[in-house]
Amino acid sequence: MAPVTIGIPATTNLILIAIALGVAYNIGYALYNLFLHPLRKFPGPISYRMSNAPRAYYNWRGGLSFHVADLHAKYGNVVRIGPDTLAFLSPEAWKDIYGHKAHGKPEFPKHQAGYRPLESMPKTIIHVDREEHAFLRRQLAHGFSERSMRGQEPIIGAYVDKLIERLRENVVAGKNPLNMREWLNWATFDIIGDLALGSSFACLENSNYHPWVSVITGFIVQTNFMITLRMIGATRLLKFLAKYAGGMSKREEHTKFTKEKLKQRMELGAERPDFIEGFLRNKEQMSFGTLVGNASTLILAGSETTATLLCGAVYLLTTNPECLEKVTQEVRSSFREDSEITLLSVGNLRYMLACLNEALRMYPPVTAAMPRQAPKGGGTVLGHLIPEGTQVGVWQWPINHAPELWTDPKGFHPERFLGDPRFANDRLDAMQPFSTGPRNCIGKNLAYAEMRLILAKIVFNFDLRLADESRNWLKNQKAFNVWLKPALLVHLTPVQH
Ligand code: HEM
Repeated sequence: MAPVTIGIPATTNLILIAIALGVAYNIGYALYNLFLHPLRKFPGPISYRMSNAPRAYYNWRGGLSFHVADLHAKYGNVVRIGPDTLAFLSPEAWKDIYGHKAHGKPEFPKHQAGYRPLESMPKTIIHVDREEHAFLRRQLAHGFSERSMRGQEPIIGAYVDKLIERLRENVVAGKNPLNMREWLNWATFDIIGDLALGSSFACLENSNYHPWVSVITGFIVQTNFMITLRMIGATRLLKFLAKYAGGMSKREEHTKFTKEKLKQRMELGAERPDFIEGFLRNKEQMSFGTLVGNASTLILAGSETTATLLCGAVYLLTTNPECLEKVTQEVRSSFREDSEITLLSVGNLRYMLACLNEALRMYPPVTAAMPRQAPKGGGTVLGHLIPEGTQVGVWQWPINHAPELWTDPKGFHPERFLGDPRFANDRLDAMQPFSTGPRNCIGKNLAYAEMRLILAKIVFNFDLRLADESRNWLKNQKAFNVWLKPALLVHLTPVQH
């Protein structure tokens, strides 16, 4: 009996010692963060200054962007939202953190853990360092040039016409209200599939999500979960899930589909006005894995974002009938028939552009901060010296809703972008939905062209009315950096011209 009775207390003691050491370490770490850490002078809630857990909690719940707005309202335009993390809210902070740097000053590099929670994940144009980025950006620039966009016009136009045709068929068949979230997603995915991989996903044709597209929402939620685990330092659990639990399956499915499509595109050769053309011209300098990673990034970056903004614009217009009336007037008085509406001619719709900009402000497709870190030797943001390695960023949703930067920030007022004196104090430069500087969105012009064409054609062809079920569409929506959009039900009435 003796060895058993002695063994149990010994094991218990070991466990108790381990727990005590763990607790002591965490208390010590929290006290260091509060009183000795180089960021100790920056304001923020005590729990956030001590540990990453509160930030991780809100991130996991899909509410961090809104929560950071509350923290800015309470603590000012610089808030310490984690022991090593600062959030900024000021138009000038965009330039300091993301802008081009002069006189050999180093850029603020991307904060890798905020993008790639596991180091084994492939790097694409979004993550690579400065030199590799410059190379990839040069290869892609051709596909996003004015000239290429003119070549892409028939491709884009054909999908937008298909969208209108399919909407009309459905309405005539009595399927009203329609879920515009799906239709807008299908249109933007088909377009980007064609431009980035050489063939569409046939979502519009089949009125259905291609399996590739339907894994994307899961992919977004999963990536957010992985980033949350990384935030609290649960790297081992993250690696375990990646390896054994099939927990990262969405990511793998996504890569598998891209590989298949890319192989088909490569068989077509380089001569095609799409994004891959530039890569294929230099394919000897790029591995197949690099091509796959970048093609996959193009699909994600160029589809979900544009569809999201269009959903936001449809919702905000249908809940602001006087703005919907004005934009409808503008579109219908500018064109006599549908064929006159082109990528070029929609450039003259001033009021519609203001509506899209106001939708970008109120419902930015990227809601969080694109995380950067202070460079070697530290950097300066808003006059503050920021120690090397500190994670920094301007949060999109909070800066777009800050009452000190916008008149009536919760209201939908396209007029603020049209020089209306009621909004003379608005800081339009506070809003950077496509980011700024050398790593800004390469697809910005394409996104605007696509959004203008799609919205103009919808408004030209249909009267829109929001279904009662979608009245509160925006309320309580979660954002995992990008929005998790519920169904958007809209009644469409075809208009004869
Ligand atoms: C409303 C639509 C869009 C919004 C709001 C948007 C927003 C952004 C933002 C904020 C970034 C910076 C990301 C970072 O710093 O980590 C970015 C980068 C990027 N976007 Fe967009 N985007 C949109 C549409 C598009 C489209 C249509 C494409 C076309 C494929 C595209 C392709 C890219 C690429 C390739 C990058 C990485 C650029 C680089 O690192 O050099 N985006 N986008």
